[in-house]
Amino acid sequence: MFGSNIWLLVPVLLLVLLLFWPRKDTRSKDRVPPDLENRKSPFFIKPILQLGNRPKLTASEEVEIHWHAEAPENDWSVQYRQSAQADWKPVPVSRSNKIKIEGHAENYRFSATLSGLLPGTDFEYQVLKSGQLELSSSGLTRKARGQAQRIVIVGDMAEGGPGSRKIAFQIAQTNPDMLLMAGDLVYRTGRLQEYLKYFLPVYNSDTSSKEIGAPIIRSRIALTEVGNHDVGMPQESDIPNLDLAPDLMAHYILWSLPLNGPVTTGSKKHVAPLAGKQERLNAFLQAAGERYPRIGNYSVDAGDCHWLVLDSNVYVDWTDAQLLSWVEADLQSAKDARWKLVSFHHASFTAHWKHFDEQRMRILSPVFERHGVHVVFSGHNHTYERSYPLRFEPAPQSNGKLIADNGHVDGKFTLDKEFDGATKTRPNGVIYIVTGGGGARQKLMSEHPEGKLVALPPFTVTMVDNVHSFTCLDMTANKLSIKQISEDGSVLDSFEISQ
Ligand SMILES: [Fe+2]
Repeated sequence: MFGSNIWLLVPVLLLVLLLFWPRKDTRSKDRVPPDLENRKSPFFIKPILQLGNRPKLTASEEVEIHWHAEAPENDWSVQYRQSAQADWKPVPVSRSNKIKIEGHAENYRFSATLSGLLPGTDFEYQVLKSGQLELSSSGLTRKARGQAQRIVIVGDMAEGGPGSRKIAFQIAQTNPDMLLMAGDLVYRTGRLQEYLKYFLPVYNSDTSSKEIGAPIIRSRIALTEVGNHDVGMPQESDIPNLDLAPDLMAHYILWSLPLNGPVTTGSKKHVAPLAGKQERLNAFLQAAGERYPRIGNYSVDAGDCHWLVLDSNVYVDWTDAQLLSWVEADLQSAKDARWKLVSFHHASFTAHWKHFDEQRMRILSPVFERHGVHVVFSGHNHTYERSYPLRFEPAPQSNGKLIADNGHVDGKFTLDKEFDGATKTRPNGVIYIVTGGGGARQKLMSEHPEGKLVALPPFTVTMVDNVHSFTCLDMTANKLSIKQISEDGSVLDSFEISQ
């Protein structure tokens, strides 16, 4: 029917294609020059600001910059300054042994220590390779006693969904002085490949937006704790196996934190039951070095607080007298801190049916009360929950143990219901906060198909289980102002504690 007319359509179709074919926008001012566009990044992991093994405050602060690169040549240099008028100060760069984790490019950890920094002040640093600038960032040193500070606390974070990117963006909007990540930083099993895919592009992105995340961990000190997913144990009965996933436990390879945790003797090692061929275990142990397993438990001073971070995973037996005496001694020693704060992943007191049975950390409540701990932060449940100030006296089970086989810890509660965080701000007891809404699971607890909450337990003031959120804590010597902020920036809860 069309006959020879079909050939007339060809030039028309070509014209349409020419007009509507998607083209690269060459007008953008931000367009990368062609010679750099295809250049491979020299970083395997981009620079991260790290506190390192510095639990105590000093008049002259230090921070470390860590990054990983595949090339062994140490032609890196780092320089920093504390004001735009100051001269850049070069610092030596050191290199680790080769990190050889199966499934990943062989790489090296490079690090530089910036020293002689004033507490609580901004600085700039630059990382250069063969004299060429590769990354520049601002940074902030830890606050000293008497300096106001803002700390963001959040757990249960990077799973690849939009929630974690929105949360990272909103955290950056609050401009915290420090970040504390309350476990389950990356899903599903804390593998290095999961960090590379889900966590680092979100919390160490080059740009800041709701759709991407923010360059937080290159500019602020982040403290971390291990959750069950960080050690390859989505379920308590799981045994992490390096033969199945050789890049498990990346937490211990990436983070550099105080090494002042307990060293126990005896048969109980309080470490994850890691399995796998010896060569894979050796590769992990070499990459982790002294961090494993010691950064599971540590304490740190910052501003007016002393912060105790504990590993609450099921393999740690907190009835062990050696561990308990370390906790007692640590809290006892923090005499000059105005505030004592504690965090661990598995909440002692949660309102939610999910993980409700995992109550084992309740046995530490009397220790916290004895030493005047003000707030305990946890994650694990993807909720925000705030308790009344409470005192809890564990009672032995019928078999004489404090922890029942099902994980329950029964006991006597004393609740301070006078405290309202507005007009009555001096709590009689410890306030327990669950802040596990960091973005993991696009389905939050409220949408979980396995069950619904029927009623809040008596110790709960409020619970939010239908939106991602994080905790923003403003601290002065006499007051803690705590806000829970959602992924869209709205305030879900706020209260104050004074002394
Ligand atoms: Fe968890």
